[in-house]
Amino acid sequence: MATIACWSAKGGSGTTVVAIALATMRGRESQDGGALLVDLAGDCPSAMGVPEPNGPGVSDWLAAGAEVPADALRRLEVEVSVDVSLLPLGHARPEGVTDPTRAEQLLEQLALDPRDTVLDLGRIIDPSGAVAGSLLPLATAADQSLLVTRPCFLSLRRALASPVRPTGIVLVTEDGRALGRREVEDILGVPVIAEVPLDSSVARAVDAGTLGMRMPRGLERSLRHAA
Ligand SMILES: Nc1ncnc2c1ncn2[C@@H]1O[C@H](COP(=O)(O)OP(=O)(O)OP(=O)(O)O)[C@@H](O)[C@H]1O
Ligand SMILES: [Mg+2]
Repeated sequence: MATIACWSAKGGSGTTVVAIALATMRGRESQDGGALLVDLAGDCPSAMGVPEPNGPGVSDWLAAGAEVPADALRRLEVEVSVDVSLLPLGHARPEGVTDPTRAEQLLEQLALDPRDTVLDLGRIIDPSGAVAGSLLPLATAADQSLLVTRPCFLSLRRALASPVRPTGIVLVTEDGRALGRREVEDILGVPVIAEVPLDSSVARAVDAGTLGMRMPRGLERSLRHAA
């Protein structure tokens, strides 16, 4: 089914929050056993309030090569709720896996899965504008490639210089910024598909690790068109 990759050009943009929210919303609406959240950045368990998995994860599968079969992915999953299963990061570094074949195989497996998949790729762009290892094919070949960004010129500049062109932007907005939706769309030439206002109830849910159990209403409302 559909694959949605969430990524940022700068740390702390709100990528993990958006990825968890989209997976929860897709999972709740699913007739096919919820949704799958693939964590390639490592913060999903603590934001969702589940114990840190200490076994192998998706990064180890990516690093392993052909001797580890494709269906081994399924055994790495952790059930987080009735709506969402988590494929945890594991111990390897996805940006260190330079052969793109395995990332392409991961997307093939996810496309065969009857569930929708949301990938949290984290900050994929380094300050030089490069995108390392497995993160590049995952960000470019997912069905939807969503840049999560603040209306921040430094983030937009990095995104513009990167080799990945998103299919849509999730704009995490705050009062008093000079750049608005229109300017962000003009700079990147990509539509803003959702605006998520900074909201203290979201920050509290992340700090308390309750985002997986109880999603703040406003967050769900603002992402309705992106999910
Ligand atoms: N809509 C929001 N309202 C209020 N706070 C938010 C919102 N989205 C994210 N935050 C806060 O901003 C911080 C960064 O969010 P998050 O971890 O989702 O960003 P990230 O892009 O995944 O960061 P990283 O680069 O570290 O992976 C968190 O502390 C979170 O509480
Ligand atoms: Mg994150």
